Amino acid sequence: MKDRKTRLRSSDWFGRSGKDGFIYRAWMKNQGIPDSEFNGKPIIGICNTWSELTPCNGHFRELAESVKKGIWEAGGFPVEFPVMSLGETLMKPTAMLYRNLASMDVEESIRANPLDGVVLLCGCDKTTPSLVMGACSVDIPTIVVSGGPMLTGKYRGRNIGTSDVWRYHDDVREGTLETSELRNIEAAMCRSDGHCAVMGTASSMACMVEALGLSLPENAAIPAADARRKVLAQLSGRRIVEMVSDDLKPSDILTIKAFENAIKVNAAIGGSTNFVIHLLAIAGRVGVPLKLDDFNSLSRNIPLLANLQPSGKHFMEDLFYAGGLPAVLKELKNSLNNDSITVNGKTVRENYESSENYNREVIGSIDRPFNSATGLAILHGNLCENGAVIKPSAASAHLMVHTGKAVVFENIEDYKARIDTDNLEVDESSILVLKNVGPKGYPGMPEVGNMGLPKKLLEKGIRDMVRISDGRMSGTGFGTVVLHVSPEAAMGGNFSVIQNGDIISLNVYERSLHLAVSDEDLALRKSNKTLSPPLTERGYVNLYINHVEQAHLGADMDFLKGKSGAEVPRDSH
Ligand code: FES
Ligand code: MG
Repeated sequence: MKDRKTRLRSSDWFGRSGKDGFIYRAWMKNQGIPDSEFNGKPIIGICNTWSELTPCNGHFRELAESVKKGIWEAGGFPVEFPVMSLGETLMKPTAMLYRNLASMDVEESIRANPLDGVVLLCGCDKTTPSLVMGACSVDIPTIVVSGGPMLTGKYRGRNIGTSDVWRYHDDVREGTLETSELRNIEAAMCRSDGHCAVMGTASSMACMVEALGLSLPENAAIPAADARRKVLAQLSGRRIVEMVSDDLKPSDILTIKAFENAIKVNAAIGGSTNFVIHLLAIAGRVGVPLKLDDFNSLSRNIPLLANLQPSGKHFMEDLFYAGGLPAVLKELKNSLNNDSITVNGKTVRENYESSENYNREVIGSIDRPFNSATGLAILHGNLCENGAVIKPSAASAHLMVHTGKAVVFENIEDYKARIDTDNLEVDESSILVLKNVGPKGYPGMPEVGNMGLPKKLLEKGIRDMVRISDGRMSGTGFGTVVLHVSPEAAMGGNFSVIQNGDIISLNVYERSLHLAVSDEDLALRKSNKTLSPPLTERGYVNLYINHVEQAHLGADMDFLKGKSGAEVPRDSH
């Protein structure tokens, strides 16, 4: 083992004499651990989001065993600990409500314990940002191991994945698919360990950590069921021990240049709109001054390279076989900050240098992209004073410049009650507006922004309309969907006073979203509006509503910005 740059943090526990050292060591020994195992060795936490309520992370106990092997091999001592796990599919009202809570759990669990380094096991959507945010606020050596995507779903000779949920749902409403058949589709779609097999939020987060330099190369795309996922986990275990010796911390890796790389990569892969919110929140923890508009300026000249659902055709498995994220990075080499350092101590360039693009149908090039539209655009205008987000790569070309009349739903219940009624005044040129699904208003900003179209238009064969909300959309969703309107309706801005029949103009090329109502009329409407009181007076949800920031700032809690570091000056007895 190399000489260490700094003394071990864990020696403040296990290296102590007297009563305190006795207590710290004695109770570890009831696990049958010899003194020499943990005294003087780097203690590596494995922060595990395994939970049977987070099916995407259901294989993480096994994955942790591979990490442990690597830690032992390199001379460290692994200690696995659970943190709050956020399952996207089961948690109500939305897993996003708990991202910040989980980040607090992670932060405090790392800081309070005798850890020298930490391995974050991340999978389902929110389990990545919550763990990275928490770890950044402590800032000890950290490496991410993602769980990997599921194998591509196979249904009646077709490849399917999570994005088909929305298609099949529309087919049922349109009457072209039997409800009973959905049971067979469910089973065919989720057929292996891992997270969603498309470029949804989980895969976008796995790409984000690799692009930021927080994981070993190849982390993003190796399927969960592929033996090489375990190899990557084991190698990550080895590497974190070296990172402790080198004292290589998140703050050394997460420079503004690393964030710029992640934004460009997300544009090139057609990554999730949720990426915007999570990256802003992570930047807030490390103190990098990232702004919503940086996503526009950095993404603008990056075309869509990856032909992956929901923007394209293929699946994460195909991305891996085509060369994985390193092959994408290599295609982007003229746009990236190639000298940024990553967890393995090598630069971005060194990590992609030996990679190859094995399938240009899956990974295009800058000269021959899959789609010239970039993956993300930030909109401005009087409808969204602090911005809004759209994913042009997953939108309809004929709606990129569109003016239409607003059909307004005041909240999700209003939408559900009226969307399929015969007397709803709506046609394909209308713009559906859904309010009160923002961070404070819902609360938790659910993924309902790609709201289904009115049944009567589906029956006419209409499959896309402009939709606008202050909520989010699943990373697996698609359509001409404007999201993250800030300020949200619950804050009482212009968005909160849009009325039925108002004319809205969207121009994605000009990055504009305009409401044709005069400033005077908007001011009058706002002065007549009363804001609703918070939905609950107690518990975490009340804390969240009172402290969550708006989407354009990353929807973190105001008091969680920045870091408290790794020092703990006082003992427990
Ligand atoms: Fe877990 Fe999609 S539901 S990643
Ligand atoms: Mg999701």
